[in-house]
Amino acid sequence: MTVLDVDSVDTYYGPSHVLHDVSLNVEADEIVALIGRNGAGKTTTLRTIMGVTPPKNGDVRLHGDPIQGLSPNKIRRHGISWTPEDRRVFPDLTVAENLRIANRVEPDNEGTNRGTTFTVEEVYESFDRLDERRDQRAGTMSGGEQQMLAIARSLVGPPVELLALDEPSEGLAPKIVDDVRDMIERLNERGMTILLVEQNAHLALELADRAYILETGHIELTAPADELLADQDVLETYLGVR
Ligand SMILES: Nc1ncnc2c1ncn2[C@@H]1O[C@H](COP(=O)(O)OP(=O)(O)O)[C@@H](O)[C@H]1O
Ligand SMILES: [Mg+2]
Repeated sequence: MTVLDVDSVDTYYGPSHVLHDVSLNVEADEIVALIGRNGAGKTTTLRTIMGVTPPKNGDVRLHGDPIQGLSPNKIRRHGISWTPEDRRVFPDLTVAENLRIANRVEPDNEGTNRGTTFTVEEVYESFDRLDERRDQRAGTMSGGEQQMLAIARSLVGPPVELLALDEPSEGLAPKIVDDVRDMIERLNERGMTILLVEQNAHLALELADRAYILETGHIELTAPADELLADQDVLETYLGVR
């Protein structure tokens, strides 16, 4: 069953044409990685899906229904949740307050009720570190803890069917990257479908079922993740890693 279907989208920032005929799909229960060098258009692809920078041409479909042109809030209510690259937490508010605010997004009648629901208490049960820090101000936590809070914020509220993560490992120490990896695996085991944007190609390919490689706004290649992981030429040519 196809959850998300991005079909031949072109996305611009003003006159600047950034995504060229980008197509990708995500099936239920998959982890799909979108990888590519800095500036390739990964974040723009997520912004296109979320309605933040809607495409000029092409369709974004959720279970076959076009969603391009809907507001980011509506798209969230339809079950796609996004953890942006810049870890949007309120630094002066506590962990509990950050979660409470995120939880206030109400489902509406147009919501699908498909997906996984997390209450704030379930978040604390799943993420010990947040549980221990309920009353700590978010801005005083480590980068890894803030990233966990940012992901937790995108889980609460209306049910989440597809979680889109933008560079969750960025800037984190290796030990913390392992925690983020575990978190993504656990969410997927709980039934969440995941679109994972990463510059850390190894991490993304180890987690993912399939991957797309984006290069200067074009989908260059798509393949099962294990095939890409074994292909040194591809890793070096498109990702600059070995
Ligand atoms: N708000 C913006 N206005 C104009 N150009 C942008 C904006 N955001 C990103 N770009 C450009 O779009 C291209 C793709 O950027 P982005 O999607 O952020 O890439 P990635 O996430 O893969 O690093 C880059 O050339 C970048 O400079
Ligand atoms: Mg980016």
